[in-house]
Amino acid sequence: MDEKHFFGSSETERKLSCLRAYLSAYSTALKTQRFCRIYIDAFAGTGSRTETRPALPFFGQTPETTEEVTTPGSARIALEVDPPFHSVVLIEQDPKKISTLKNAVCEYPGNRAHVREGDANEIVQHICARYDWHREKMRGVIFLDPYGMEVSWKTVEAIANTKALDCWYFFPLSGLYRNAPRDSLKFDQFKTDALTRVFGTESWRQEWYEAKDEQYDLLGKLAAGRTRIADVDRIEEWVHNRLKSVFKGTVLKPLRLKHSNGAPMASLFFAVSNPKPAAVRVASDIANYILKAGISSQVRSR
Ligand SMILES: C[S@@+](CC[C@H](N)C(=O)[O-])C[C@H]1O[C@@H](n2cnc3c(N)ncnc32)[C@H](O)[C@@H]1O
Repeated sequence: MDEKHFFGSSETERKLSCLRAYLSAYSTALKTQRFCRIYIDAFAGTGSRTETRPALPFFGQTPETTEEVTTPGSARIALEVDPPFHSVVLIEQDPKKISTLKNAVCEYPGNRAHVREGDANEIVQHICARYDWHREKMRGVIFLDPYGMEVSWKTVEAIANTKALDCWYFFPLSGLYRNAPRDSLKFDQFKTDALTRVFGTESWRQEWYEAKDEQYDLLGKLAAGRTRIADVDRIEEWVHNRLKSVFKGTVLKPLRLKHSNGAPMASLFFAVSNPKPAAVRVASDIANYILKAGISSQVRSR
């Protein structure tokens, strides 16, 4: 039986709308060029997204029940793109989701889609290193849509090194917040290791925390920790700069998505690995338009 994948909110819909709009415009823009177009969904899920919402009012009566609404997830969105991608790679590691994802792929027989089972970091790094992207005239889009801190920096570097992939990265701000406590004495090794894996550097420990409060007792033991001075804006800007250090095309200002209580949830980044000015122009013109539309609808909905 198909597995229902419950996740997200109206903000998720906004994220997926950005992806849908970009894939469609990208495929159309490149269709007359002799490139092989590939789409890689590193965290593909089941192909669909189910959300529980209050049921719609019926003849003016307030609903007392909820209803489940299922809409296309990123994998189906990619499979529905017209003109289609020449290759669609869907990566997922949860066996139950994989079987539902495979059933979804069967509904699109014209597509050259492959489900790859396993860890997204390993598979993406392998795919990126496997091709000589420019010599083989391959171009594409990759979507990184983890639940949390699953994407390692090595994966980001591998994508940037292709100089052929455009990357949408749903970056987990709330995960960062949880793992970087205000007081450095509350650092937890597992969580700090996760941050370092996501960023490929430990420099966040110096750059987000101020040193002046650090105090030692008579035995030289740390008695008072350092305080995180980086707020969410500064952390987002720090992440932006970190991505710019490897993506030689461009990295656009992200779209900030929020939880229903208004707390920051994630930043949707768009990065271009191809440094050629023509490639940067086409990709960033399309993505800028989409992100700005996303941002202005966010302002309107406040
Ligand atoms: C937020 S969901 C993705 C939703 C999907 N993009 C969509 O729009 O329908 C994250 C997915 O990543 C999968 N996942 C988590 N860690 C993974 C990993 N290391 N490698 C591959 N898949 C992973 C989870 O099983 C889950 O299906």
